[in-house]
Amino acid sequence: MYNIELGRSNISVPTIAVGCMRISNMSKEGVDYFVNTALENGAYFFDHADIYDGGRCESLFGEVVTPSMRDNIMIQTKCGIVPGKMFDFSYEHIIRSAEESLKRLKTDYIDVFLLHRPDALVEPEEVARAFDELKMSGKVKAFGVSNQNSYQIQLLQNSLDMPLCVNQLQFGIMHSSMIQSGINVNMHNDSAVNRDGGVLDYCRLNNITIQAWSPIQYGFFEGCFIDNDKFPELNRVMGEIADRYGVNKNTIAFAWILRHPAKIQPVTGTTNTERLKDYIKATDIKLTREEWYDIYRASGNILP
Ligand SMILES: NC(=O)c1ccc[n+]([C@@H]2O[C@H](COP(=O)([O-])OP(=O)(O)OC[C@H]3O[C@@H](n4cnc5c(N)ncnc54)[C@H](OP(=O)(O)O)[C@@H]3O)[C@@H](O)[C@H]2O)c1
Repeated sequence: MYNIELGRSNISVPTIAVGCMRISNMSKEGVDYFVNTALENGAYFFDHADIYDGGRCESLFGEVVTPSMRDNIMIQTKCGIVPGKMFDFSYEHIIRSAEESLKRLKTDYIDVFLLHRPDALVEPEEVARAFDELKMSGKVKAFGVSNQNSYQIQLLQNSLDMPLCVNQLQFGIMHSSMIQSGINVNMHNDSAVNRDGGVLDYCRLNNITIQAWSPIQYGFFEGCFIDNDKFPELNRVMGEIADRYGVNKNTIAFAWILRHPAKIQPVTGTTNTERLKDYIKATDIKLTREEWYDIYRASGNILP
């Protein structure tokens, strides 16, 4: 595992983040083993959200991370989604969510706090007031967003005194539209459609770390593409490349994300420690340009 700098935060983080959205599927002992396996393999940055299983994922994590472990662990969590109802970036909601996450996580600080999904009624000055208060009180060290396009980030950033360090977006081999639109610029095809306001280049230009959520899913949580009969060509090409490096396709899926020069930080979703170790092995592999494009094309993309 190697580290990268998280945006303009001056915070060094492992290049793979451990997602905790599904950990409530495990027993407390299972979570304990999972967290410790991650730590033994250099993965000490954990991604949460207040809404993961209604707060249960944060609570379980808070039960296994003892105070003596806390300083060797980094915790990122998110707020702003009121499930099935609305998005809420109001001052009151942000502050209340942070306080509740702190309680569930049994900690007195959050390393990185993200706004989870854009609120159409956002008032940037209100967000700024909440972020200032959380920063001044030491309850949050760094801030970011998730699922936001370039102008949404810029709108918020204009009112903030601290840098937005992260934009967490869905990204992986089967969800690469932010790359497709760059490759197909000015073409009359679906891949040319720019769905995110050029967010990949925007984040690179402004030194904002893109974190890749659901890195091995296709569609919107439709399933995993690895060893899936729906994607024979992709699995054939990934299998060949995996054999070349003496690893499996899990490792290659993460190596493909890490190969991009934007220094994207993939967020794992597995609850299986063997898969977690496969993903971490990707940090020792640098795909060639040809291999990277072979996988891109095998996933169904055509080059102009
Ligand atoms: N910001 C956002 O809006 C947002 C949205 C969603 C998620 N996230 C974050 O991103 C993290 C990752 O998302 P994700 O969980 O969707 O990631 P993912 O890694 O794409 O998917 C994980 C799921 O795929 C399964 N899986 C892995 N390999 C498989 C295989 N070969 N065959 C069948 N199933 C396989 C895993 O099962 P096993 O557990 O058995 O391996 C797990 O259920 C989350 O934990 C969360 O932190 C953020």
